[in-house]
Amino acid sequence: MLNIILLGPPGAGKGTQAARLQAERGMVQLSTGDMLRESVASGTPIGLKVKGIMERGELVSDAIVSALIGERLDAAADEGAIFDGFPRTRAQAEALDLLLTERGRHLDYVIELAVDEDELVRRIVGRFSCAKCGTGYHETFRPTKVEGVCDVCGSTEFKRRKDDNEETVRTRMAEYRAKTQPILPYYEAKGLVRRVDGMGPIDRVGAEIDAILDGAA
Ligand code: AP5
Repeated sequence: MLNIILLGPPGAGKGTQAARLQAERGMVQLSTGDMLRESVASGTPIGLKVKGIMERGELVSDAIVSALIGERLDAAADEGAIFDGFPRTRAQAEALDLLLTERGRHLDYVIELAVDEDELVRRIVGRFSCAKCGTGYHETFRPTKVEGVCDVCGSTEFKRRKDDNEETVRTRMAEYRAKTQPILPYYEAKGLVRRVDGMGPIDRVGAEIDAILDGAA
């Protein structure tokens, strides 16, 4: 059972690769972004608190996201977990260590997806997802097979994230550089970091990640 972190700036492909690993390996994708968006959509007290923060592209408090991960971690006990978008600060990294230790688990890899900033903006501005089943697409890099029809569930309704505009993306990247990138040395000191070139096509990035998980890289 592997526990891995996918670390990278907005649009690096964390969600795409986490969903693939969940489908192909039965690991459980734990995305704090998805959890927070669910809270916003259902109007919970946490959702009301974080809505504006997310729309501005700033980070939500460490306490909120660490609690969300803690609630879901046990569901990923047997199959292994993919932490997608968490941790994003040193305090979150330490909280995750504690949550795993308390359960007799540990991190196996921190996979850093490296992508250049102009490519990230292109990816995010072209992103959309199925309104019914949530499958993610991109206008250029991952279009639906039949235009306007979801490949997975056949729905013809799609949605875009409110924070997927160029201005907010720049804030999200600045947050990443200021608060998330600095946690890499914390994991480097533990020998857990593996770098993957996130600029290649989705399948090639996936193959590089698989090689790491299978112990071949
Ligand atoms: P979150 O939902 O985590 O967003 P993010 O980190 O900004 O990452 P994205 O989901 O935008 O990108 P991704 O790396 O998953 O890329 P994707 O695979 O979709 O967080 C949103 C907000 O929630 C934050 O701003 C913050 O406010 C809050 N939040 C969340 N977690 C938090 C935490 N821990 N602490 C505090 N606040 C938190 O790919 C992007 C597009 O590119 C897709 O269309 C995809 O099809 C395409 N694509 C993917 N890979 C490739 C490839 N190799 N080649 C070409 N296209 C590709």
